[in-house]
Amino acid sequence: MVAVKNICCVGAGYVGGPTCAVIAYKCHHIKVTIVDLNQQRIDAWNSDKLPIYEPGLEEIVFDRRGKNLFFTTDVDNAIKEADLIFVSVNTPTKKTGLGAGMAADLAYVESATRRIAEVATSSKIVVEKSTVPCRTAESMRTILDANATKDICFDILSNPEFLAEGTAIKDLLNPDRVLIGALQTDQGIAAQNALAEVYKNWVPEENVITTNLWSSELSKLAANAMLAQRISSINALSAICEATGADVDEVAYACGRDTRLGSKFLKASVGFGGSCFQKDILNLVYLSTQLNLPEVAEYWKQVYTLNEYQKKRFVKKIISTLFNTITNKRIAVLGFAFKKDTGDTRESAAITLIKDFIQENAHVAIYDPKVEREQIYMDLIEPSILDSREQVEKSITICPSAYEAAKDADAVVIVTEWDEFKSNELDYQQIYDNMHKPAFLFDGRLLLDAAELRKIGFKVHIIGKNELAGTA
Ligand code: NAD
Ligand code: UDX
Repeated sequence: MVAVKNICCVGAGYVGGPTCAVIAYKCHHIKVTIVDLNQQRIDAWNSDKLPIYEPGLEEIVFDRRGKNLFFTTDVDNAIKEADLIFVSVNTPTKKTGLGAGMAADLAYVESATRRIAEVATSSKIVVEKSTVPCRTAESMRTILDANATKDICFDILSNPEFLAEGTAIKDLLNPDRVLIGALQTDQGIAAQNALAEVYKNWVPEENVITTNLWSSELSKLAANAMLAQRISSINALSAICEATGADVDEVAYACGRDTRLGSKFLKASVGFGGSCFQKDILNLVYLSTQLNLPEVAEYWKQVYTLNEYQKKRFVKKIISTLFNTITNKRIAVLGFAFKKDTGDTRESAAITLIKDFIQENAHVAIYDPKVEREQIYMDLIEPSILDSREQVEKSITICPSAYEAAKDADAVVIVTEWDEFKSNELDYQQIYDNMHKPAFLFDGRLLLDAAELRKIGFKVHIIGKNELAGTA
């Protein structure tokens, strides 16, 4: 078995950057080069302000950068030097063509694979790190094999990433498991062992799981689909709670105490966001459809459908509570990221909500501690509705604090669960004093103590809770 000494990671994004920075941090004997076609992104990785925000990431990058961790756009050279290459490029949902709106767009994976095949001058272990439909490794292998020679051979592994944003470094330093799939041939297993040795520098041996290639690929989609399914289940129950007086936090706690169910991923919310859950469920739905398994496809599709329903249900609740119109009203939205501790806005529920508020002619005041202004504008531009940045600018104000956003607002809506929005962090009395009355507060994250806020005077609605129990 060859020992890995030189790693290249193609794709310097939310996965490639943190994952390979941690490998460099834990394996000083391995040279790690992270490459990307995007010059701006690479420049940011080489600067004091990294392109993504993740707690603990800066310390690790600053510690290893220039020693055994490098960021460059010189893709070909890094490929040539490496003995193991992670393909960690984006696999977004296809926008056009066959499978549009469902299937994963594999163009970036294919182009990275072709590049490796073209420029390699020695044998490589190629590792599929991106989340891909089951059997993608077969297409990658076909491309690589077509370029193999007597002296240059390629092994292909699947090593999906399970990190969650906001806790990426913690997850990478102490993963529940590392999964490595390989073809069950002598050569495939040798490659699998070589990658396992890299992880064993800090991950306990029993947490490194080895499987066949296809199990590994499918496990990634399956894990995300099951996690999302739990959120859709509790969100479906939140609607029943609101209609009956049951409390969704109490229901989640009571169910989660059953050790067979467990307590995690049972927090009701305005709907899950992020770059993975929706994309990967739709990917699984498409895969099932392609495999002529319509009932299976329908089953997983419902997890997505319920999530869309939850977002719309929250918007409808806000509009109906505000006397069936929000025209010319100021709605303060606290949080724009898809979850706390990240600046990532991909598929954030905030985007859907704010677009709906704008459609209803409300003025939306937005505050998020980590999301860049330009990102908010970009996310809200919508062809033929809000065509340009100028049009978006007329409908929103981006504020420097929660207090500024809530000033003169008719309603405050909590969309992201940032700690700083908790009852003991924000001065809700001050917020109340500066709002139009009646002052409405909608909590899409079960962050607040409704009873305390009602004492101040707020009209409060919390997802999964029946406000009639608390209002006079
Ligand atoms: P990202 O968009 O942040 O990063 C991907 C990067 O790849 C981009 O910077 C892009 O410029 C670069 N790229 C694309 N094609 C390239 C090429 N041919 N050569 C060089 N660079 C190229 O995406 P991400 O969030 O890091 O996700 C990457 C993959 O990991 C996806 O398949 C995703 O589903 C999966 N994943 C993501 C997460 C997450 O939390 N974001 C978690 C687990 C798995
Ligand atoms: C997810 C998976 O957790 C991770 O393993 C995978 O590698 C990538 O996709 P991520 O999307 O970064 O990670 O964050 P996650 O913590 O899973 O949250 C996703 C969304 O679900 C967020 O909008 C979050 O707020 C929401 N969520 C999560 C809930 O609404 N309720 C919960 O109980 C948990």
